[in-house]
Amino acid sequence: MAQPEKPSAGPLMTPSNQTVKVGLGKRSYDIVIGPGSLHRMGEYLQSLGLSGRVGVVTNPTLARLYGASLKKAIGKAGFTCYFISIPDGERTKTLRWVSYIVDELVKHRFERRSTLVALGGGVIGDITGFAASMYLRGIPFVQVSTTLVAQVDSSVGGKTGVNHPSGKNLIGAFYQPALVVSDTNTLQTLPKREWLSGLAEVIKYGVIADKSFFGFLEDRMEHILDMQEKDIQTVVTRCCEIKARVVAKDERESGLRRILNYGHTIGHALEALGGYRKYIHGEAVGIGMVHESLLANHLELCSKDVVDRQRALIQRTGLPVRIPAHSFSRFWGAMRHDKKVAQGTVHCVLPRSIGKVQVMPLDPRTVRRWYAQFS
Ligand SMILES: NC(=O)c1ccc[n+]([C@@H]2O[C@H](COP(=O)([O-])OP(=O)(O)OC[C@H]3O[C@@H](n4cnc5c(N)ncnc54)[C@H](O)[C@@H]3O)[C@@H](O)[C@H]2O)c1
Ligand SMILES: [Zn+2]
Repeated sequence: MAQPEKPSAGPLMTPSNQTVKVGLGKRSYDIVIGPGSLHRMGEYLQSLGLSGRVGVVTNPTLARLYGASLKKAIGKAGFTCYFISIPDGERTKTLRWVSYIVDELVKHRFERRSTLVALGGGVIGDITGFAASMYLRGIPFVQVSTTLVAQVDSSVGGKTGVNHPSGKNLIGAFYQPALVVSDTNTLQTLPKREWLSGLAEVIKYGVIADKSFFGFLEDRMEHILDMQEKDIQTVVTRCCEIKARVVAKDERESGLRRILNYGHTIGHALEALGGYRKYIHGEAVGIGMVHESLLANHLELCSKDVVDRQRALIQRTGLPVRIPAHSFSRFWGAMRHDKKVAQGTVHCVLPRSIGKVQVMPLDPRTVRRWYAQFS
């Protein structure tokens, strides 16, 4: 989908905030990371050269926690602010709710230069970005990310969209935001299970691209679990830098971007086998990483130490690491249903060492022999 040229941002750095740039030519944008950044949203919108109406898409949970602060910050800078609230949860990520958002934009006479702001996690970010991509063929879109998953993953890279009854994220567009604001203070109110789910993605970045970041996580995990501000900021910043680098090289997932799916081939299968109720995403990804590395070890691609370090780190967070027992045919069937299957062949991201992975086609007979110990 064609995307309008992005408004240019001014300097967004303050002593307590850090900025990561996602370098995508004319579609480049900044991610501002730090405590209290939400309160400076008005200045940020101004520095992008935006004016007029701002629609804040959010849900009742986030409206209650952060709605008033955001409204104040935006209003103070002279914008007219409308809140568009949709129900909380993944089940809202549908075309029906996109249509509702568009109805609200029409009702409030939003124009080409009006702005949509997502206040929330990945669900709100994905649906709002998609609505912004299609309303008047694209209006500026800003994400205020409030979950760890959104701050380290979903707000970086421009994938927007909604689910279809027959599959997750089947409808969508690549549409880059004009800015992402990740206020690390908002993570304090996140339910613990959601927080840990994000940590699985954090660990993933160390394994796929950055050995020293993995070492940092091993050194500082107790401090991170204790939500020490400086460590949280380091974690979010480093993950954004890694994802930004990958996305800048492969915006539309034709090659390198696939490494971001480490832990997800088995993870998605476990989510599906659990009827999307047993595990939340990051829990399944954690088990997926442990078992994709076990598979890599079985294939003699990596040493046992690569498996042990990941399992130990994931265990320290409290995330599950054991794979539930399913027959091989159910397990393999679920793996084959993953979106990343090309022409019937299951591809999987497998580690060579901590910090280095490769994408490999899987031979079902080999996987069956390896899987026998778990079924
Ligand atoms: N676009 C991408 O590249 C990408 C990447 C990863 C995931 N995703 C998508 O992201 C979605 C998952 O996102 P998520 O994990 O952020 O979940 P989410 O958006 O559903 O948020 C989880 C829960 O936490 C609540 N919440 C959010 N922030 C809070 C806060 N600060 N305090 C208290 N409660 C808060 C929400 O209301 C919700 O109930 C999925 O739909 C997934 O497909 C997209
Ligand atoms: Zn994920």
